[in-house]
Amino acid sequence: MTDIVIGKDDFAEELAKRLSAELIKTEEKTFADGEKRPRLLLKSGNQLKGKNALLAVRSNRYNPSPNDSIVETCLLLKEMKGLGVEEIGLLWPWALYSRQDEKFRPGEPASLKYVAELLESCGVTDFYTVYSHIYKKPTPLTEFFSSDVNVHDISPAKLFVEYFKRKKMKDCIIVTPDEKGEDRIREISEPLNYEFRCLLKTRDHNTGKIKIDFGDLDVRGRDVIIEDDIATSGGTVVDTYRRINRMKPRKVYIALVHLLTLEGIKTLYDLRAEEIVTTNSFVNETKQPKYFTELNLVPLLAEVMK
Ligand code: R5P
Repeated sequence: MTDIVIGKDDFAEELAKRLSAELIKTEEKTFADGEKRPRLLLKSGNQLKGKNALLAVRSNRYNPSPNDSIVETCLLLKEMKGLGVEEIGLLWPWALYSRQDEKFRPGEPASLKYVAELLESCGVTDFYTVYSHIYKKPTPLTEFFSSDVNVHDISPAKLFVEYFKRKKMKDCIIVTPDEKGEDRIREISEPLNYEFRCLLKTRDHNTGKIKIDFGDLDVRGRDVIIEDDIATSGGTVVDTYRRINRMKPRKVYIALVHLLTLEGIKTLYDLRAEEIVTTNSFVNETKQPKYFTELNLVPLLAEVMK
């Protein structure tokens, strides 16, 4: 049971309310040279003693700074531990560094393992995230932590299912650019009774360039949902969109669980994508364009945490 939720934004506030937990806000300051100086805004020095507390940290959608998020997280976790928190939960809606789950080239660290070790050394006993990049993969997220940590890699599929159920889709097919997305795409397509297709994406690890094989895919006259877990530069999803669009579909929606840069959003809009649907796994301080929908993860997270 979570007694206290710690975080700096309305996301943490809503989570605390839904868990009937106390909320402790954090303050985030940065020295002129970029070093972080976070702070727990405590009422008293022993407010956390013997309590179960959950730290919720989201990065900013348009200025994600994942490395700053990691430093801030570790500093706050250490402070929580020092102040006598009993069980320390950490919520990272997007599992930072989960794309680097192995060594792709000699000399390259398998960063996810080291990030997990770091979090554990800061006292994390429960780790919560949403669709990490290795969701349901042969080596799941659990295996990057020791057995002392309870790992929850939560599926947001039902939010996307509920959302698309309300749309009047015509002969819809869900397409993901990468065959590794099959488990995710099944969780959305099966309850909706939509066909799905996983394309074959290969990446040149030296240049970063991707190649997507569309096989015999033909979506003429159909509605299409292009799904991916995360878009950073937007390159993968924009490439997929351009190729799909040449096949003359009826409407094309983009479903991305995590993040998309403002530039990526704009490009898709300029290319006339019908709508971009994502989640609030990142903080968004900019006014949303009309064609951009953010699904709220908090009720789902609270349900799992309860
Ligand atoms: C990688 O395998 C992920 O699933 C995404 O496809 C990738 O991170 C997207 O990156 P970008 O938006 O830069 O193409």
